[in-house]
Amino acid sequence: MKAFIENLPKAELHLHIEGSLEPELLFEIAQRNKIKIPYDSVEALRKAYQFDCLQDFLDIYYQGAQVLLTEQDFYDLTYAYFQKCDAQNVRHTEIMFDPQTHTERGVAFETVINGISKACEAAEKDFGISSFLIMSYLRHMTEADAFVTLKQSLPFKDKIKAVGLDSSEKGNPPSKFQKVFEASINEGYIPLAHAGEEGPAEYVWEALDLLHIKRIDHGNNSLQDEKLVQEIIKRDMALTVCPLSNKALQVVPDLTKHPLKKMMDMGLKVTVNSDDPAYFGGQVNQNYIEIQEALNLTKADLYQLARNSFAYSLLDDEVKTKYLEELEIYYQMNN
Ligand code: ADE
Ligand code: ZN
Repeated sequence: MKAFIENLPKAELHLHIEGSLEPELLFEIAQRNKIKIPYDSVEALRKAYQFDCLQDFLDIYYQGAQVLLTEQDFYDLTYAYFQKCDAQNVRHTEIMFDPQTHTERGVAFETVINGISKACEAAEKDFGISSFLIMSYLRHMTEADAFVTLKQSLPFKDKIKAVGLDSSEKGNPPSKFQKVFEASINEGYIPLAHAGEEGPAEYVWEALDLLHIKRIDHGNNSLQDEKLVQEIIKRDMALTVCPLSNKALQVVPDLTKHPLKKMMDMGLKVTVNSDDPAYFGGQVNQNYIEIQEALNLTKADLYQLARNSFAYSLLDDEVKTKYLEELEIYYQMNN
């Protein structure tokens, strides 16, 4: 099973680039930027990665991101993630980035987007991995702040495929961002959002009906509302599920209690993703491996998950078909 997963062609649809910053690179960048961090070693930093909830994690994640200052930093961060994609047979990835985490500290929007997008171009050339960028608004900030970010993004519109909504979910419902999502859609961005990770099913309804999202990031708490589940199925929307993240943030007590298989059995379109791999103990393949073991997933289940990852990506149909054919051949030969 492990080898089957490792060689399985797949896409990753839920990945925060700031959450891919491994402690080793964090230390290296901190040193070259002469930034002091409150840990004296890589091991000490890794040890601090114990979380009781989403907010616990976010506090450390935003602190880690503070070492990123220059275009080279964003390039190195992103290129390192692509190297991991290459090693895991990730053929396509849709990368979230949080501009406000950086612009708030005085880093220019341009620095962030240029560093990340140059690494995407290099990865296409060096590894043949395709990618899209998802500009995520921080929901703990105001809608006016998100509008500033939207405006900053416009000169770089050709580099950004979609907008997302992330950060502290509880108390920050999608309705808070209805206008900025409407404006983002008018600019041609595809709307996506985290919903139902820690927040209630009601937030998922809002994300569907008020933000008009095309895909749900996490979505676990949708299961609390049978009508909502039926609506998600009817609209043929996928959930980007992140098993190791759910375990690390105590969304589930352990992976044997994870609802992923139940979601699949109900007819929901599920994908497997790493969210913030540097913080949650594993890249995307490790997520597949651990959830397979915990829930006894079959090769057919794993194939379905990989299929969904391409089918519910933002790729156009022609490229989707190419990846799906590659996957089909793999499955026929290894089933
Ligand atoms: N930002 C980075 N990871 C996140 C997550 N899992 N939920 C919400 N915001 C995030
Ligand atoms: Zn996320």
